[in-house]
Amino acid sequence: MEGVTVIAHPLVRHNLTRLRDQQTQPEEFRRLLGEIAALIIYEATRNFSVKRIPVQTPLAPAAGFQLEREVVLVPVLRAGLGMLDSILQLIPHARVGFIGLKREETTLRAMFYHKSFPKNLSQFEVILIDPMLATGGSAVAALDLLVEQGAKHVRLVNLVAAPEGIRAVQKKYPTVPIFTAAVDKKLNGRGFILPGLGDAGDRLFGT
Ligand code: PRP
Repeated sequence: MEGVTVIAHPLVRHNLTRLRDQQTQPEEFRRLLGEIAALIIYEATRNFSVKRIPVQTPLAPAAGFQLEREVVLVPVLRAGLGMLDSILQLIPHARVGFIGLKREETTLRAMFYHKSFPKNLSQFEVILIDPMLATGGSAVAALDLLVEQGAKHVRLVNLVAAPEGIRAVQKKYPTVPIFTAAVDKKLNGRGFILPGLGDAGDRLFGT
């Protein structure tokens, strides 16, 4: 699927299977989601632009590299929080924005309740983080907001994506790359991903 990178690393597959398992309790779910997020982000940042900079080692000058742009991580509340800490361990210099979105249960429409970002997002490499891409309503609403704030270099990081959600994102944002551990079969009548892993927010926080 063009524009979608499925990270099929054995450790990702192993952790995703544990996350799908209905027996997995919140404590383990949190740990696994963190571990898998780090593996996904490693791949999702592989093509970040770098510029050449000189560096002086204790012995000699050397050629070095620096990220071209600063990084902003934007987890979608709540479930995106489950991926944030471990990503910050890999990119500790990143800034963090937040988008609070709640999918209304009958209409499945995403409603905003919070947003905060650094100013002038155009200069940043923005990583939008949400474990679940179901109808795509939340991701499109979050992308609308990021673009409204000037974001130009955005990538979407998910754990599990439904084909319906991928189509919705690509219809409006064909150039936003999507990174996910799995593309599942479809949505059920209530907009849940099948087979999926249930409601990631509820499983993370035990609600
Ligand atoms: C879930 C999930 C995504 C969204 C995906 O969040 O974490 O944000 O639904 O669905 P969509 O692609 O159909 O929009 P939810 O709204 O349940 O909020 P929560 O993270 O607080 O549980």
